[in-house]
Amino acid sequence: MKNIRVRLGRRSYNIRIGTGLLTQVGPMLKEMGCAGKAVIITDPTVKKLYGRSLKQSLTASGFKVALLEVPEGEEQKSLETAGRLYNELTKFYAERTTPILALGGGVIGDLAGFVAATYLRGVPLVQIPTTLLAQGDSSIGGKVAVNHGLLKNKIGAFYHPRLTISDISTLKTLSPRELSDGLAEIIKHGVILDGEFFSYLEENLDKIKSLDDQVLERVISRSAKIKAGVVEKDELDLGLRNILNYGHTVGHAIESVSELKVWHGEAVAIGMLAEARISNRLGILTEDEVARIKNLIAQAGLPTELPSLELEKLIQAMKHDKKILQGKLKFALPKSIGEAFITDEVSPSLIEKALVE
Ligand SMILES: NC(=O)c1ccc[n+]([C@@H]2O[C@H](COP(=O)([O-])OP(=O)(O)OC[C@H]3O[C@@H](n4cnc5c(N)ncnc54)[C@H](O)[C@@H]3O)[C@@H](O)[C@H]2O)c1
Repeated sequence: MKNIRVRLGRRSYNIRIGTGLLTQVGPMLKEMGCAGKAVIITDPTVKKLYGRSLKQSLTASGFKVALLEVPEGEEQKSLETAGRLYNELTKFYAERTTPILALGGGVIGDLAGFVAATYLRGVPLVQIPTTLLAQGDSSIGGKVAVNHGLLKNKIGAFYHPRLTISDISTLKTLSPRELSDGLAEIIKHGVILDGEFFSYLEENLDKIKSLDDQVLERVISRSAKIKAGVVEKDELDLGLRNILNYGHTVGHAIESVSELKVWHGEAVAIGMLAEARISNRLGILTEDEVARIKNLIAQAGLPTELPSLELEKLIQAMKHDKKILQGKLKFALPKSIGEAFITDEVSPSLIEKALVE
């Protein structure tokens, strides 16, 4: 098992990464000083696969457990669903000290995290991510949120977990498309901050796809450590954290114009390639580096071509996105593989060219 310490002063916490960890959650919680009640929030698929073993681990450690289920899907990241969960927590007499365990992918992590941040002005949160996207990226950084109208992920808080437990064994039940989708943010971490990690991914992609435990543990740990390092320096997203938006200016637009038919990681993959081309056209990233990024994305089973979406709608969607700085679109672009920078000096015609190239 690997342990990563996220250093945030009083809010510091550990991320544990390894195989078979679900059965050890009860003792880990007791070690943290939790006792009495615990609440698991999950979705039907994850509940069926892992709900029982998590619940057993907790009851064996003396916890009285409520297992709350929300239907699957991004639309559950809503104030309505949060309201329903508050009711259930009240019925269970959950207290300020009752931990909420978010068991699932990024949707459950964001939603249960938001509920934990707000119920009784905050109860302990334990993230137990079960998708590659959540283990390598979304469960780290403390951003918890629901959507509201056009405000995607904007009703939320910075609320860090007391502990994150990434059980790699849970990844075995993901579909190949879900696994590939989760690889996008991991590749992004290599491109923007760690060239050696990028090379490691190039060399070990087959082992990742065949779910080799050792390689997965290393990849998830490295990805988590890279993100944690950025979050430690810019917890409230006021500067450095912007580089994590590489691939996202274009990616978010694709996600929203496709009405979520293109998944988050897939959209980010297409976005990373388009934004790598923008950097190349600005005379910064070399052709060779663009080719390496493209190859790794393709090898990961992610798309490299823009799906048939109206270019004009994409540009409009980018303009509505949060990454606008005094009317100009803001991009996080790779300088080389392993280094990134922020710029608002990208002309609309260059964006269009990069999208259709
Ligand atoms: N907070 C952040 O910093 C951050 C960062 C990136 C993305 N996100 C959010 O993450 C969400 C996407 O997360 P996601 O891709 O994990 O999607 P998801 O949570 O919707 O999970 C995808 C599907 O996989 C299923 N699933 C989960 N674990 C499984 C397992 N082990 N085996 C089989 N099936 C499993 C789920 O039931 C669901 O149907 C979005 O809402 C996005 O906004 C948040």
